[in-house]
Amino acid sequence: MKQKTILITWGIGYIWSHAVIAFEQTWYKTVIIDNLDNSCLSTYRNIWEILWYKPDFYEVDLRNKEKLEEVFKKYSFDWVLHFAWLKAVWESCEKPLHYFDNNLVGSLRLFELMQSYNVKNIIFSSSATVYDSNRSIPTFPPKGERSFNWFSENDLTWNTSNPYGTTKFLIENILNDLSKFASFNVINLRYFNPIWAHPSWLIWENPDGLPNNLSPFIMKVASWELPYLNVFWDDYETIDGSWVRDYIDVVDLIDWHLKAYELLENLDFSGFIDNFNLWTGKWVSVFEMIQESKNATWKDIPFKIAPRRNWDLASVYCNPSKSKNILEWTAKTSLQDSLKNAWKFYNK
Ligand code: WQD
Repeated sequence: MKQKTILITWGIGYIWSHAVIAFEQTWYKTVIIDNLDNSCLSTYRNIWEILWYKPDFYEVDLRNKEKLEEVFKKYSFDWVLHFAWLKAVWESCEKPLHYFDNNLVGSLRLFELMQSYNVKNIIFSSSATVYDSNRSIPTFPPKGERSFNWFSENDLTWNTSNPYGTTKFLIENILNDLSKFASFNVINLRYFNPIWAHPSWLIWENPDGLPNNLSPFIMKVASWELPYLNVFWDDYETIDGSWVRDYIDVVDLIDWHLKAYELLENLDFSGFIDNFNLWTGKWVSVFEMIQESKNATWKDIPFKIAPRRNWDLASVYCNPSKSKNILEWTAKTSLQDSLKNAWKFYNK
């Protein structure tokens, strides 16, 4: 049987390099395009070290249709895993048009070439930020209850709280129309807080400078690279006053992409589309994350209470039952194991 060839956009990125490794190790041929705006070539070398060979890589910006088409001419792609996104929520609020140009225009050029070259299968990395950010927070689950359903896939996706979420919402709707009128097969994977590191310890979320996200920030505090963590407010209607999130280990996250791939591979019709929440279904507050990190690192995590970030979403967690029931998928890595895995990096 012909080996399937998969185009992975921004495959040198922190999370998507894991997809390259997972799909290559599952005997698919991957082709990476990345403009290196949000990644660095050292990750490509680490992929090489893990796989013992270098997947094909082209330094191409999706908005450069001519260069992108040269790649499409070289291969007969069966699939696209579309990860090419700027994803810092705070930055999207400061540079909305930069985000619309990169995330939307790049995607449209990609979809045009997919249609021209009859590549109709796409897995799109979407986000929980597509859900209605004004939805009232339900009366919080009784203390001690760990799994509490909130966002389900059929909830309204609109009224996004930041330009980053808006780009995700708009692309989901464009793909919905392409599934209806251009026979695209689409799976939108809505995830929220991917965290931590590859078991090889060669690839991890270690942004240069000040991290945007909670997980790498805590690790830099634990390794004394940063003096303390800012906790963005502690007086919310939650279990301990801090916001909650659903943190999913990046290896589990990518495992789900393989499951989604299998689902679409077994389709015997075109024009399919579906959305899945990709979370563990368990929420963790910021203070709980601090305590879990102390347990994993045996280090103190000093923190100060700071004002809420004006774009911060309220507590976000989800109902994972759809991905659990339809694809018998559940997250397998515990938060403690993710944290210990990551600490091995920062403490190297
Ligand atoms: C988590 C919690 C903060 C840092 C993420 C991704 C973004 C997108 C949307 C996928 C929040 C608190 C954080 C800190 C803190 N993902 N926090 N001090 O805001 O959920 O956004 O989801 O599409 O790419 O970034 O993630 O890690 O920034 O914050 O108190 O120094 O930790 O208030 O409650 P967020 P985060």
